[in-house]
Amino acid sequence: MHLVTEDNITDLAVARWATARDARTAEVMTALVRHLHDFAREVRLTEAEWMAGIRWLTRTGQISDEKREEFILTSDVLGLSMLVVQMNHRLDPAATPATVLGPFHIEGSPELDFGADMSDGLPGTPFYLHGTVRDLEGNPVAGAVLDVWQADTEGAYESQVPDIDEARLRAKYATREDGSYCVRTIAPLGYTIPMDGPVGDLISQTEISHFRPAHIHFLINVPGFEPLITHLFQEGADYLDSDVVFGTKQELVVAFEPRRPGATPDGGTSEVPWSEAHYDFVLQRQG
Ligand code: BEZ
Ligand code: FE
Repeated sequence: MHLVTEDNITDLAVARWATARDARTAEVMTALVRHLHDFAREVRLTEAEWMAGIRWLTRTGQISDEKREEFILTSDVLGLSMLVVQMNHRLDPAATPATVLGPFHIEGSPELDFGADMSDGLPGTPFYLHGTVRDLEGNPVAGAVLDVWQADTEGAYESQVPDIDEARLRAKYATREDGSYCVRTIAPLGYTIPMDGPVGDLISQTEISHFRPAHIHFLINVPGFEPLITHLFQEGADYLDSDVVFGTKQELVVAFEPRRPGATPDGGTSEVPWSEAHYDFVLQRQG
């Protein structure tokens, strides 16, 4: 019989988890056990502290549902989401880089035509985002679907607004034969991550800024190409240097140009001042 001591507990636990029938599960679980034990030893974790940690995890689970993803938020503010993105998307430097998905993507957004408005009358400055989707050789990618989502001017995503029947500030736009796309929406603003839950409780105990710079999200999944989850950020926006989820990259910062009333990129006209940004997405072929 193995008597458990402070010195052998880690080896015993690692040996147990090494019995996982799937080799990768065994690798991941034994490493997790080793690192958790090292962590507890390093900080000399007290029982009261570990119970507080368990209560925090419990609350994180309890507040989560299909609309609120507090564990994704946890991973994001710890920098773990962005580390996993970086390790798994080592793309050609000329390709559009990936960044975090975040907790607010919703499946099944409506398909809109070139230049159709996904803001559906919500208050804000009319904003046109247009450009092309191309491969690394500069060839246009026709029929690429851009799944787009963003927050309103109060910083709220659809899943944070109660009793919504229709898609709000999210849509899918397909590129035309020449690879061009045009999104019509309202200019995004910076916003705070949700601070009314366990993540907010922790952040409030630090000097961490809980804001994200103004941005729009994109998911572009084209057969034969590396899937791309990314954002575009407004040049000069607040919090570009302190994004609470570490998601900002220089290559994803674009100028939002203010325009007077007049002709717009979708071929129409605007009676009010509007703004626009141009961005060419570059996708990398798989393999
Ligand atoms: C977002 O931009 O939607 C987001 C990303 C990570 C955490 C919170 C929000
Ligand atoms: Fe966002």
